[in-house]
Amino acid sequence: MVQLSLPKNSRMTKGKTWPKPEGATDLRKFSIYRWNPDDGQNPRLDTYFVDMDTCGPMILDALIKIKNEIDPTLTFRRSCREGICGSCAMNIDGINTLACIYGMDEVKGDVRIYPLPHMPVVKDLIPDLTHFYAQHASTMPWLETKTNRPAKEWKQSIDDRKKLDGLYECVMCACCSTSCPSYWWNGDRYLGPAALLHAYRWIIDSRDEATGERLDDLEDPFKLYRCHTIMNCAKTCPKGLNPAEAIANIKKMMVERRV
Ligand code: SF4
Ligand code: SF4
Ligand code: FES
Repeated sequence: MVQLSLPKNSRMTKGKTWPKPEGATDLRKFSIYRWNPDDGQNPRLDTYFVDMDTCGPMILDALIKIKNEIDPTLTFRRSCREGICGSCAMNIDGINTLACIYGMDEVKGDVRIYPLPHMPVVKDLIPDLTHFYAQHASTMPWLETKTNRPAKEWKQSIDDRKKLDGLYECVMCACCSTSCPSYWWNGDRYLGPAALLHAYRWIIDSRDEATGERLDDLEDPFKLYRCHTIMNCAKTCPKGLNPAEAIANIKKMMVERRV
């Protein structure tokens, strides 16, 4: 298990314990991080009890039930409910993961839910990902070409396409970057595992014609070389991807082009 620290604005005060639903026989206790930028209060942990007999099997089901039936002010992101959009990323029981594909039965005992760690919080379980997205954009996550456009499409062999497996599936949830100690301490300049995985995805795309520029841009003491192979990123990725391996491959390419 990857144990993680609290979000940045985290001087906690005692929270509210909400009443148990009447008549429920199978209750589960949830402790959930709450912070509202508009009320001037410190963050707190609120306690909710959810009737498991009338709740779906995923952590997101419980959050939606709490919001619908107990406390409509509870705030979190979600959209697809099937691990595709990446928006429901949060820290559940000490692990950064997607609430919609994390089963209730994967947590023993009470369920503790915090926003992704070491990020500014917008409200409750919503981290501010502005900087994270800007770093992703800085890697030029698109096909860069110099030759004239083909009449129909940029072709790619089956083998070259296969090289993108394990990279293109990233849903930009930020679970990896917010579990990375190097990103916690140097996130202003270190690009972090998610952005670097995307950088590598375009570096090795056989159709791309800006490989040299992409590597030049990463040849920097902070952007790439703050990765110390701690591997939290690969352990926590809810899509089973391995950003650490992508980073190692970029470093290898850096060495190879110097000799
Ligand atoms: S392997 Fe690199 S990117 Fe992944 S958690 Fe460790 S330092 Fe961060
Ligand atoms: S590599 Fe995995 S953990 Fe990181 S942003 Fe992509 S899907 Fe999320
Ligand atoms: S709601 Fe889309 S990934 Fe969870």
